[in-house]
Amino acid sequence: MAQDERKRSAAAAALAYIEPRLTTKSIVGVGTGSTTNYFVDALARIKHKFDAAVASSEATAERLMGHGIVVVDLNAAGEVSVYVDGADEVNPAKQLIKGGGGALTREKIIAASADEFVCIVDRSKMVNVLGAFPLPVEVVPMARGLAARALVGLGGVPELREGFVTDNGNIILDVHELRISDPVTLETAINNIVGVVCSGVFAAQAADVVFVAGENGIQLLQ
Ligand code: A5P
Repeated sequence: MAQDERKRSAAAAALAYIEPRLTTKSIVGVGTGSTTNYFVDALARIKHKFDAAVASSEATAERLMGHGIVVVDLNAAGEVSVYVDGADEVNPAKQLIKGGGGALTREKIIAASADEFVCIVDRSKMVNVLGAFPLPVEVVPMARGLAARALVGLGGVPELREGFVTDNGNIILDVHELRISDPVTLETAINNIVGVVCSGVFAAQAADVVFVAGENGIQLLQ
C-alpha cells in the first residue's frame, strides 16, 4: 500500500470512529496537512450529521467550505466534540511532534478545546523517541534571536523556516538535534521562553487515540 493510501485509510478509520459519536449539534475540530485533507474529504460525506467545523488553518477552512461544510470561529463554537489531525511523529505514549505544516498553535488550541483528540498517521510517523523530525516552534518575529539562543541552551539547533509566516503572523524555528526523552519537561521549558507562542511538542496533552495505518491495516493506540 502506498503512503497516500495509508493516509487515506487512517482518515477513513477516524471517520468511522467519530461518526457514531456525532449529533446534529456537534462541532468537529479539523487539523491541517495531507492526512487531514483525506479526512476532510471523507467528512464531507456525513456533513448532515454534525453542526459545523472549526479549522486549525486557513487552508483547512477553505477545503472544508469547498465541500459545503460550515466553518465557525472557535470562540463562537462552544464545545468541540472531537478534534481530528495528523502528526509528524508519534511515540508509544501518544505524544506528538506537530507543526510540519506550520499550523501548530491553532492545532494545539483546538486540541485543548476538544473533548477527544483523534490522531491519524501512517506507520512512518511512529517513533520510540520524539525528535528526529525537527521540532517546529512558533515565535513572535522580534523574539527570533532571543528564542533561538534559548533553544540552543536546551540542546537544539534552531533553523529559521525561510519565507514562511504562520496564520498568526509569526515565524517558525525548526529545532534540529533534539532527542526528546522527556517530552512534557521539554514542552514546559519551551513554553517558558519569552517570545515563544507555541511549541510543536504535544505531550502534556497527548492524543487520546491514534489510528496508525500500515501495510497490514489499521492499528488503534488508546
Ligand atoms: C500541520 O501543522 C502539522 O501539524 C501536520 O499535522 C503534520 O505536519 C502532518 O502532516 P501530514 O499529514 O501532511 O504528514
